[in-house]
Amino acid sequence: MGKTRAAVAGVGNCCSALVQSIVFHKDNDVGLIHQEVGGMRPSDVEIVGAIDIDSRKVGRDLSEAIFAQPNVALKVCDVPPLGVEVVKGPVLDGADGILKDLISVDGSPDVDVKRYLREVGAEILVSLLPTGCQRASEFYADAAIHGGCGFINCTPSRIASDNRWVEAFEDKNLPLVGDDLMSQIGGTAFHMGLLDFLSRRGVKVEKTYQLDIGGSMEAYGVLEDFRREEKRKVKSDTIKHALPAGSEVATGTSDYVSFMKDRRTSYFYIEGRNTLGTDVIVDIYFRTYDGSNGAGMLLDVLRGVKLALDRKVGGQLTSVSAYGFKNPPIHTSIAEAQRWFEEFVSGARKR
Ligand SMILES: NC(=O)c1ccc[n+]([C@@H]2O[C@H](COP(=O)([O-])OP(=O)(O)OC[C@H]3O[C@@H](n4cnc5c(N)ncnc54)[C@H](O)[C@@H]3O)[C@@H](O)[C@H]2O)c1
Repeated sequence: MGKTRAAVAGVGNCCSALVQSIVFHKDNDVGLIHQEVGGMRPSDVEIVGAIDIDSRKVGRDLSEAIFAQPNVALKVCDVPPLGVEVVKGPVLDGADGILKDLISVDGSPDVDVKRYLREVGAEILVSLLPTGCQRASEFYADAAIHGGCGFINCTPSRIASDNRWVEAFEDKNLPLVGDDLMSQIGGTAFHMGLLDFLSRRGVKVEKTYQLDIGGSMEAYGVLEDFRREEKRKVKSDTIKHALPAGSEVATGTSDYVSFMKDRRTSYFYIEGRNTLGTDVIVDIYFRTYDGSNGAGMLLDVLRGVKLALDRKVGGQLTSVSAYGFKNPPIHTSIAEAQRWFEEFVSGARKR
């Protein structure tokens, strides 16, 4: 089994944690869902290309760029020089509105992304752009198709859930997964797990919310109304799929607190009824790190997409999308999605 050769568009916090996790998990399996996926370990993932627009990242080796401002992801380990210089991509809507406060746009000319992907030998392009950049997301999806790469859309922008893009990837027999990465143990996954447990024990959930506070660029960006709405819709729809029709659901990031940096606090409230119609109330919070939470899942998704490439399976990978994303074409429970993913890895499911 060869290396999984991926390029990233967006060298932000999730990318920082991904690059560190490839180094950290070389000899340490602690905290991963799967140590091996199809015979590949995390260290079999290789980042061969990196694209960003921020002057503090462009032109630097990826091992340094991941720790440049405004990134706040925790530094867990030293990353040796990777020999991958971050190149400048087209800005499009990547620094619009509130994002201007945090991104310092680099003045150098844009790279030809399709040609770049071929030159660095990337077989997968991972979109890690900020929430709410539909034009840039579509640009990179198109570049993946013309650069001969599978595409992983970690952002909430509609790509893998849009039939036009699914057909375009099918036509080129290239795999496509998304949309909106589901963190390993983030608010949405934890919320779905709680709701699943309560419903298995007979509780009829009537009302629930999950609200987050964080200190990353992502948490800052979603202070802007249209970005908050985009994220909220994806998260709420995911939770609604896990509940009976008519339940009241609210989710989303409700504030930005800079000193929290990459930490995220998620508050969960669930109100339901069990035997004799009596109340059951869950009112809890938990704390996680955003970057590592995303990277853990992305390591599995990358290796899943590599298996599809090796098997020459193109188009939407329903099992990988259901397992790794909040807005996949087919929604199911956390447990079933993991079973689908493992069946896909073993070859028992085609996609
Ligand atoms: N736990 C997680 O990390 C997690 C979970 C779910 C979803 N996501 C999604 O993943 C995406 C990335 O998250 P993040 O926290 O790393 O974001 P981030 O804001 O830290 O990083 C985004 C990066 O994209 C760059 N960028 C902006 N426009 C660009 C363009 N046109 N071309 C290339 N680069 C551009 C920015 O300069 C920045 O470096 C977001 O859409 C987020 O919603 C992340």
